[in-house]
Amino acid sequence: MLNDLENKTILVTGGSRGIGADIVRKLAKMKAHVLINFRSENDSLQSLVTECESYGAKVTKLQFDITNLDETKEVLNAFIKDVGPIEGLVNNAGISKDTLALRVKAEEIDHIFSVNLKSTMLLTNFLTRNFLRANNPSVVNISSVVGLMGNASQTVYSASKAGLIGYTKSYAKELAPKKIRANAICPGFIQTDMTDALSDEVSATYKSSIPLSEFGSGEDVANLCCFLLSSASSYITGEIIKVDGGLYI
Ligand code: NAI
Repeated sequence: MLNDLENKTILVTGGSRGIGADIVRKLAKMKAHVLINFRSENDSLQSLVTECESYGAKVTKLQFDITNLDETKEVLNAFIKDVGPIEGLVNNAGISKDTLALRVKAEEIDHIFSVNLKSTMLLTNFLTRNFLRANNPSVVNISSVVGLMGNASQTVYSASKAGLIGYTKSYAKELAPKKIRANAICPGFIQTDMTDALSDEVSATYKSSIPLSEFGSGEDVANLCCFLLSSASSYITGEIIKVDGGLYI
């Protein structure tokens, strides 16, 4: 049933790199019509598009900053008018910054909450009317395991990701009568440029706290994401699912 992603139009925010790019790749392999949201053009975005097209997928680049609601609406309205309803949404764009609670500034809270929570909510709410016309619409929010378990030096980030979990559950309840589903994924340690830069010693210390003893990959997150976007998960909504190798059992 994962095959029913073929030709489905799915928007991935912050889809040009990291976990977002792995979700885009996986969707392209399932032959979805992938809408890659990005903020600035670069060579790696272009090579991602070329790679996705080589899988036979249709790809559309949509440039906007999710914190600019007017720009976001303009770009998405133009796409919907030209092509038709967007059927799936992956709210992946997110930022993080580690700061001790004693040193957190109000602007830092505003900035992180603005990207991870407020803009994600406004974008999803804006697309909801469009989902009413879509076939089997599904929203996947990329939260974090720290939104569930907390983490020292990440009071702001973890609060924003916990907020996203509350939003996911409420949105799922409110929109279920309209057959719009919403679920959240909570990744643990995922192998990225950031984990690659860790020394072997630090890396080993982190891994020792993970029951499966290794970092996850973007593909691990992408696999679950495709399941939640497809009708293979049609009776699942309001779920918060960890992809963390058992880190938070
Ligand atoms: P990343 O920094 O590589 O990618 C984040 C993406 O979001 C980038 O493409 C960036 O351009 C985009 N973005 C940021 N602000 C934006 C804005 N205002 N408008 C549009 N796009 C914007 O990060 P990574 O690691 O790939 O993370 C992706 C998601 O997964 C984030 O929501 C993050 O919080 C979450 N996550 C990541 C984990 C990890 O281990 N890497 C663990 C748990 C959650």
